[in-house]
Amino acid sequence: MPLRRKKAPAPEQVGPKPKGTGKITTRPGSRHAAVLGVGAYRPRRVVDNHEICEVLDSTDEWIRERSGIITRHFAGEGESVIDMAEAAAKGAIEMAGIAPEQIGCVIVATVTHPYQTPAAGPLLAVRIGADGAAAFDISAACAGYCHGVALASDMVRGGTTEYALVVGVERLSDFTDPTDRGTAFIFADGAGAAVIGPSETEGIGPTIWGSDGSQWDVIAQRDSWLEVRDQDLGWPAIVMQGQTVFRWAVWGMAPVAKRALDAAGVKIEDLDAFIPHQANMRIIDAMAKQLKLPEDVVIARDIATTGNTSAASVPLATERLIREGLAPRGGLALQLGFGAGLSYAAQVIRLP
Ligand code: UT7
Repeated sequence: MPLRRKKAPAPEQVGPKPKGTGKITTRPGSRHAAVLGVGAYRPRRVVDNHEICEVLDSTDEWIRERSGIITRHFAGEGESVIDMAEAAAKGAIEMAGIAPEQIGCVIVATVTHPYQTPAAGPLLAVRIGADGAAAFDISAACAGYCHGVALASDMVRGGTTEYALVVGVERLSDFTDPTDRGTAFIFADGAGAAVIGPSETEGIGPTIWGSDGSQWDVIAQRDSWLEVRDQDLGWPAIVMQGQTVFRWAVWGMAPVAKRALDAAGVKIEDLDAFIPHQANMRIIDAMAKQLKLPEDVVIARDIATTGNTSAASVPLATERLIREGLAPRGGLALQLGFGAGLSYAAQVIRLP
């Protein structure tokens, strides 16, 4: 008889039983996302170039010629980033036709909220009646709003939230040296907002975005908070190497705009509007030329009377085009933000 081996005893179970069979479920998102409403807030105080030149060594003529800016708005005393954001957000929520409680996420793009912490988002959420919504700020300067639209649309499609509010808001007058010839005539205050939510057809194309940190210093707060504290440097205004940024914007951003069109499968002749960051009228014109924009594509030129409001500039310009009937509701717009970082983001959207 062949010898039969005795079956070895099963090893004793050591530690907790593995639970790898447990499953994670996800919330289904909407197949498509869209901008459902936009809102804007321009502070009441209008400041013309003559007033700027009371302090700045410049002229109305030079400012108009080099930047296209005629007037801009400055926030009133005590009028905070959150106050302005609230006003713009209410307009966007109204146009979207939703209740504020339906907003599950509030994204505030700003570089001028004057608190290191907490973010402006949570307080804004309470102010607009979206109590308890996830809320946070993003710092991508003039590209901040378009970054926010990228996050919000992916959240809606991914099921993280049903509706998101994106606000671009700045009180740049607080962070500008009124005697600095490179910035004092450009920067301004204001807020623009959008509600992003589910849609039956696609309303937001893929975002083309990126950064170039090797040019971190070309638009920057002059000194870090630590240097301000330790070296008694005074208020750290935002400063800019204008020509360097100008060249980067003109030569670097038109290809980004083209890639956003390609990614969305939209031909340039099918666009109704081009809404670039309102940095400088000459930059806007140079980009339009490089893109060979057809004559019937409306170009946002809000900078003339709004100035450069960084994160607020794209939604402010969008709201104006719609309100003044310059671009059709439901039309296609290419929006492009670019600025400090250096950072940029662009996408094609369907106008609400
Ligand atoms: O929002 C974030 C992204 N920002 C941007 O995209 C802004 C990009 N940059 C710009 O928009 C432009 O560079 C500025 C509007 C800031 C400046 O315009 P510029 O045509 O680049 O001016 P510049 O610095 O080349 O200066 C031209 C001339 C100089 O005189 P000379 O050397 O030609 O005799 C300057 O000294 O203008 C003079 N200048 C001024 N004159 C009157 C510079 N600043 C001023 C001023 N007023 N404020």
